[in-house]
Amino acid sequence: MALLEVFSLNLWYGDTKVLHDISFKLEAGEILSIVGESGSGKSSILNSIAGLLPQNARREGRILFKGKDLTLLSEAEHRKIRGRDVGMIFQEPSSYLDPLFTAGSQVEETLRSHVSRADFKSEAIGALARAGIPDPQEKYRMYPHQLSGGLKQRVCIASAIICNPSLILADEPTTALDVSVQKRILQLFRKLREEGKSIILVTHDFGVVAEVADRVIVLKDGRIAEEGDVFGIFDSPRADYTKKLLSAL
Ligand SMILES: Nc1ncnc2c1ncn2[C@@H]1O[C@H](COP(=O)(O)OP(=O)(O)O)[C@@H](O)[C@H]1O
Ligand SMILES: [Mg+2]
Repeated sequence: MALLEVFSLNLWYGDTKVLHDISFKLEAGEILSIVGESGSGKSSILNSIAGLLPQNARREGRILFKGKDLTLLSEAEHRKIRGRDVGMIFQEPSSYLDPLFTAGSQVEETLRSHVSRADFKSEAIGALARAGIPDPQEKYRMYPHQLSGGLKQRVCIASAIICNPSLILADEPTTALDVSVQKRILQLFRKLREEGKSIILVTHDFGVVAEVADRVIVLKDGRIAEEGDVFGIFDSPRADYTKKLLSAL
């Protein structure tokens, strides 16, 4: 059984249909990249899985995670899975982190919302270290404004992995970072894959896809334009849209 299976996902915001018949599978230990232009529906797919849709959204289809249909969960049940079994990383770490709390307390908070007893501090320091943060003890006490963009994103990654989720949803996680920092974050994703985690990595950048993805879904106007393994898509893209995106690289 695949870790995640999406069957015929359709999504509307009000009367506007934004996702059309999206189906795909994700295996354990796999990095799937969803690539497409801005507005093509990439975030909507992730938010459908995470149960983070706005009030006016209506969804059809099935999203099986470990065999359980996430579309049938109540908001409270979804919240239990989010953060624990499904970690999330977003584009702008600054807008995700609270400026008033230390990095360590924010990472700890994710664990606190899912378990009542633990050595929270040492777990948080461990997660900061696994996210590739040097001197995690020292960074634990720092506030977001004292950290660089790359370190802030690593704090968000620490928060996403502290509960040891099997699935990580990453929405343009390196878009706001400069290229060398971006490379190191992608390296970290490869390490997480080695640990058996599955990642859906949303990006508009085929360079990012080439760096880490096993498989790719090319999304255009809410539809899958092309899907395949990363080598096939780079060597012989079938859809004209994919060719156009690749030529921009
Ligand atoms: N909360 C919302 N309400 C109405 N329309 C939305 C909302 N969020 C996104 N959209 C629209 O849905 C489409 C897909 O958006 P999105 O999933 O954010 O695409 P992407 O992440 O690829 O840029 C776009 O046309 C966008 O304008
Ligand atoms: Mg988006």
